[in-house]
Amino acid sequence: MHEQLLGQHSADRLISQEHIEFYRENGFVQVNDLLDEDELATLREYMEESMSAKEGLSVKTGKDNAAYARVLNQKVNTWRDHGGMATFAFHPRFAEIALRLTGAKGIRFFHDHALWKMPGDTNATPWHQDSPKWPMNEDGCMSIWIALDDVDENNGCMMFVPKSHKVGKLTNISLHDPVNIFDFVQGTELADRKPVRVPLKAGSCTFHDGLTFHYAHANKTDKPRRAYAIIYMPDGTTFNGKPHMVSDGQSCTPEEPLRGPMFPLLAKVPAQR
Ligand code: SIN
Ligand code: NI
Repeated sequence: MHEQLLGQHSADRLISQEHIEFYRENGFVQVNDLLDEDELATLREYMEESMSAKEGLSVKTGKDNAAYARVLNQKVNTWRDHGGMATFAFHPRFAEIALRLTGAKGIRFFHDHALWKMPGDTNATPWHQDSPKWPMNEDGCMSIWIALDDVDENNGCMMFVPKSHKVGKLTNISLHDPVNIFDFVQGTELADRKPVRVPLKAGSCTFHDGLTFHYAHANKTDKPRRAYAIIYMPDGTTFNGKPHMVSDGQSCTPEEPLRGPMFPLLAKVPAQR
């Protein structure tokens, strides 16, 4: 069976119209049992290999910054050094769900990252939006965040502020030396909106819009909290010319769509017959 059809069938099983409406209204949604047991075991093995391998074309961020390392042990573009990670980075099922949630005509890959919170003395990932960090003009980019361990408030589960994606793009917030994002929305009802905590079973995931306010608790346990995230963009999303470690050196032209071998089209709405 064609890969995209496979993706469509399994997306039918995992999400309903309610998920789509919830995502568009609130800027995030939980999807349970994204991975079956075999897939979860495989992704854990690949991630362990990837995190313990030397950097080639993938990049460990913040390794020389002790304050950053206390928030995240992160590797960007694991797929470039590990063929197994590439099968998950470009997985048609995940991209098909992103297509349906966003309502885009096509979904392109931007980058992936392993996001680990190391045991013991870690800090929370502070409240932020992702979009201000990315070099795109349009809204609509989003992330899948897959838990590889059961997560709750003790080891780094995520929280989201419902409907916060409607506020638009604010500012790039440092993850190790943050300003308070709620200062930017003081006096609006968003400042008082209750965040939603999302504990997950390993193999389940959330999707969140690049504009949604989100946060992750510190890891107070004695084991790493392992998560894997993929960033997607609607096909046609244009480059804004700003520096970014993933697009730097890739001959991207300002105001032109991001495309090409680094940013493949992973899912699209079937052409009408
Ligand atoms: C985290 O995994 O701690 C944060 C993820 C995110 O900011 O998207
Ligand atoms: Ni984020």
